[in-house]
Amino acid sequence: MIVTNEDRMSCSVHLSEDGQAVEIIDQTRLPNRTVTCRLESREAIYDAIKTLAVRGAPAIGICAGYAMYVLARQKESLLYEDFISQLEAEGDYLISSRPTAVNLSWAVKRMLSKAKASGTRDVRAIIEILKGESLSIHNEDIEMCYHIAEYGLSLVKPGDGILTHCNAGPLATSKYGTALGPMFLGKERGIDFHVFSDETRPLLQGARLTSYELCRGGIDVTLICDNMASIVMKQGKVNACFVGCDRIAANGDFANKIGTSGVAILAKYYGIPFYTLGPRSTIDMNCPTGADIRIEERDPNEIRTMWYQEPMALPEVKCYNPAFDVTDHTLLTAIVTDKGIVYPPFDVNLKKIMEQA
Ligand code: MRU
Repeated sequence: MIVTNEDRMSCSVHLSEDGQAVEIIDQTRLPNRTVTCRLESREAIYDAIKTLAVRGAPAIGICAGYAMYVLARQKESLLYEDFISQLEAEGDYLISSRPTAVNLSWAVKRMLSKAKASGTRDVRAIIEILKGESLSIHNEDIEMCYHIAEYGLSLVKPGDGILTHCNAGPLATSKYGTALGPMFLGKERGIDFHVFSDETRPLLQGARLTSYELCRGGIDVTLICDNMASIVMKQGKVNACFVGCDRIAANGDFANKIGTSGVAILAKYYGIPFYTLGPRSTIDMNCPTGADIRIEERDPNEIRTMWYQEPMALPEVKCYNPAFDVTDHTLLTAIVTDKGIVYPPFDVNLKKIMEQA
């Protein structure tokens, strides 16, 4: 597969033409406004990740790769030792913006290793190498999404109803998306599905982003509130559940947007296959089980006041706002990766697929 500059530039995250900034579509403004932001400083990049202007595990990874290159360019006058130590500090700072999606630290570490293993102490030469590496991270994600979409498509048949949670489409990744990849690839091939998109409280990624992307792509989508998943499953409207992932542990447990594990439990009850789809950059073999995944906790006002004209709860009411939950691997039918479909036993088969890579 040949990935072109045009492919990259059409993604929600890309490197600016002049190479001095990460450019993103601000996902907090969608679906009502399409606003592109130019991120040049470490603070601007950190804030964009923290506030979810750029979000979705693979997109965060791509952003981190470009960020490391953009920040490296700003240090071209430094001597080798200072350059590396300042770049490490930038990496630590970026990683601290969000804890759950492994793609963020994965991309930062990949860029740092490349810088250190470049075989030269010439800072300008290292910066050029880093540019190539950041573009490779992006190119690989485009390719991986395509393969995930192919494998995912093999699991469903024309006309099937597919339920998804949160947003794992092109905005969150590159080009096809992961969980939404089979729908977009199917559309290209004249295969239609009926998609149910959970609105995904509290930040409404399903309503604002998934239903927007699918509608714009001409794919049949019905938006439902999170608490309606059970009834559509019971009515026989759902043949499969496809969701994304932020970190897959070595035993197959995986973190994804809060509410995912509830969907998996419902799917098990109704006998509906439940799949998570993600690239190998989301598999963390250093994380033994879901209990080892750190769950981000976010601002309570995302529950109390955000999206409402008036607060929907007393200001003093206690709120608990975990951004992710962990789905137990026993609820998973399979993990769809860019290298193939992984079935249980996940501890054995994930290891095999990672070794093969
Ligand atoms: O908090 P978010 O919106 O970044 O959470 C995103 C998700 O949970 C996605 O499902 C996941 O990152 C997969 S994106 C392909």
